[in-house]
Amino acid sequence: MDTPQLLPATPDGITRAAAALRGGQLVAIPTETVYGLAADATNESAVAAIFTAKGRPSFNPLIIHGDGLAMLEKQVIFDDRARLLADHFWPGPLTLVLPRQGDATIAQAAGGGLGTLAVRVPRHKLALAVISAAGCPVAAPSANRSGSMSPTTPAHVAESLGAAVPYILAGGRCTVGLESTVLDLTSAIPVLLRPGAVLAEDLEPLIGPVQTPADLVDETAPRSPGLLLRHYAPQRPLKINHRGDCSPDEAFLAFGPNPYYGRHAATKLNLSPTGDLAEAAANLFVMLRMLDAPPHKSIAVGPIPNNGLGIAINDRLVRAAAGSGGHV
Ligand code: TXA
Ligand code: MG
Repeated sequence: MDTPQLLPATPDGITRAAAALRGGQLVAIPTETVYGLAADATNESAVAAIFTAKGRPSFNPLIIHGDGLAMLEKQVIFDDRARLLADHFWPGPLTLVLPRQGDATIAQAAGGGLGTLAVRVPRHKLALAVISAAGCPVAAPSANRSGSMSPTTPAHVAESLGAAVPYILAGGRCTVGLESTVLDLTSAIPVLLRPGAVLAEDLEPLIGPVQTPADLVDETAPRSPGLLLRHYAPQRPLKINHRGDCSPDEAFLAFGPNPYYGRHAATKLNLSPTGDLAEAAANLFVMLRMLDAPPHKSIAVGPIPNNGLGIAINDRLVRAAAGSGGHV
């Protein structure tokens, strides 16, 4: 089998996806953020297969998805802050890093050897239905080869992973389009490890100030192993905050009404002609993938406001630019 089998977004598709998960197989499933490469999180060999399929370093832990608080409470310890945030934002694009329960059944490999686990309840109906039908927590990193852009359509998953994933539950395009916010609650002051659609300003009224990794320069050990890695990178060199001319073999990705388009660019796309950051987030990986193709030799992105969801968009673009170019 060279290509993954697409399972339809029907009760039968959900049943087959859940049966495959229970049988220890990998299934790409849609969530509201990006597609996840799912496995039964309690099955050591299924979890190991995720790392192999993605080419992901074993020290980079996976997010554990549940169909509700009850399923995840058996695996991690919720304090008052975690409970408040779960009540408020779940199901939704917020991942909480919490201490592992002593009798947790999550495979050790999923936690990357840390004493903590990252957990979330996704807002996508198909994801919730599959997790409930499988009856087990589901480990699911983004369904792409390690280092490349996260997939927001079934076609992206198939392009990135090919036959390494036997099944894709086809749920159309992801509405949020950027990975979840990751919040570490294992310290007195919570740390926002990855910005996403749940903003610091949404969290702070409930739990007080949150820090970012930049505030923790004194720490010797990185909080989130994955943050150090090349990420979200297109194959072509990527320039960000570009305000100058373009070369004729360059693509330009703009934002907002009356955007500046680099002169001479071969192709020009706009993340959101109305200046809507949620629309821009949903289009980011889709448009970068479209432009990361011949005849373009490079991609330039114009300035994007660094507020609200723009913080998460710029975070992904900075990492993408740092790791882009020179690989296939
Ligand atoms: O939106 C999302 O979060 C998607 C969908 C599928 O849910 N998943 C996703 O997973 O983006 P992944 O594996 O690509 O990113 C998980 C991030 C990584 O940066 C990882 O290092 C961090 O979460 N992480 C996981 N467990 C952690 C832990 N125990 N402590 C700190 N960081 C952790
Ligand atoms: Mg990822």
